[in-house]
Amino acid sequence: MIRSRIIGTGQYLPEKILTNHDLAKLMDTSDEWIRQRTGIAQRHVAEEGEGASALGYPAAKRALEAAGVDPGEVDFIICCTTTPDYLFPATACLIQEMLGCRRAAACDVSAACSGFVYGLATADAFIRAGLYKTVLVVGAERQANRLNWKRRETAVLFGDGAGAVLLRAEEGERGVLKTYLGADGRHADILIMLTGGSRKPFEDTTQEEEQLAIHMDGQDLFKRAVGAFGLAVHKTLEGSGVSVDDLDLFVPHQANTRIVYTAAERLGLPAEKVFMNIEKVGNTTAASVPLALDEAVRQGCLKEGDNLMLAAFGAGLTWGGALVRW
Ligand code: COA
Repeated sequence: MIRSRIIGTGQYLPEKILTNHDLAKLMDTSDEWIRQRTGIAQRHVAEEGEGASALGYPAAKRALEAAGVDPGEVDFIICCTTTPDYLFPATACLIQEMLGCRRAAACDVSAACSGFVYGLATADAFIRAGLYKTVLVVGAERQANRLNWKRRETAVLFGDGAGAVLLRAEEGERGVLKTYLGADGRHADILIMLTGGSRKPFEDTTQEEEQLAIHMDGQDLFKRAVGAFGLAVHKTLEGSGVSVDDLDLFVPHQANTRIVYTAAERLGLPAEKVFMNIEKVGNTTAASVPLALDEAVRQGCLKEGDNLMLAAFGAGLTWGGALVRW
């Protein structure tokens, strides 16, 4: 059976770091509040003028280097982002040009914080169908210049960064075993960026505050996120022959430490099997899962044959999971 095996991972974080203490000088917040409620201590912030492609490119390059694969071998590039460089063309096309992947098709996937899992499932489907052999999935987010720094309830949560994985079609038991995706558009309004799209372009808005405002019902989202993580993991495992107890590592979307550990506890997953890096990077939306995965790889948390679960939840609402035999 042909499977998509992850043969390389990579990440990129901008050099500039904004700690909770830095934020406390900009707004009425504190290190203690942010750490207790979210688990975040700092986030990285890209330079002025840098878009998502400037972060996605080095992460993708590292994934190719880790796999020892030439850019010319890549068939398809999927960039998962909510902060594309432009409304069009796709950020994936900009990354294709930067990498020199001349023969690769390229497009973006937009599913907010679940974007990477959606992108991975899409790549896996193309590989299983026999259409492509080598697919690059990049999660890249440039959140900081889109945040309204006067809104402490959202400004403290997000960070910039990118992660990437390179998938290759291989015969055998290793690779993506199963994916599952879900969505519920009835709750689109509980986490939404109202401006900047076709319904309400930035120039139509009068107040600066409104221009850069992510609207979020934090408490509603919190409860739904816990449930969605559980659903994503159970549905992904269904029929796979792998149980929660068989999982060796869980790399979730880094939304919030409390959300993740509450979901893990309900699933019966011990905390030591949960990989978290939110403390150092914040919530990097679609970049969060591949960034955390690369970190887990570098820390030697995965060995051949391990059962890895990736899961995410985000605006849309969207959620999903991927079960991978490492
Ligand atoms: N610093 C200090 N105080 C803050 C604050 C901040 N950054 N943001 C909000 N507060 C205040 C509120 O104004 C409120 O004050 P009040 O009691 O005087 O009215 C108080 O803290 C509690 O606010 P509340 O919204 O009830 O906090 P909470 O316990 O729900 O935590 C979140 C807020 C955002 C951390 C939490 O709801 C959450 O994590 N939600 C999910 C968010 C998420 O993961 N989004 C991305 C999904 S992919």
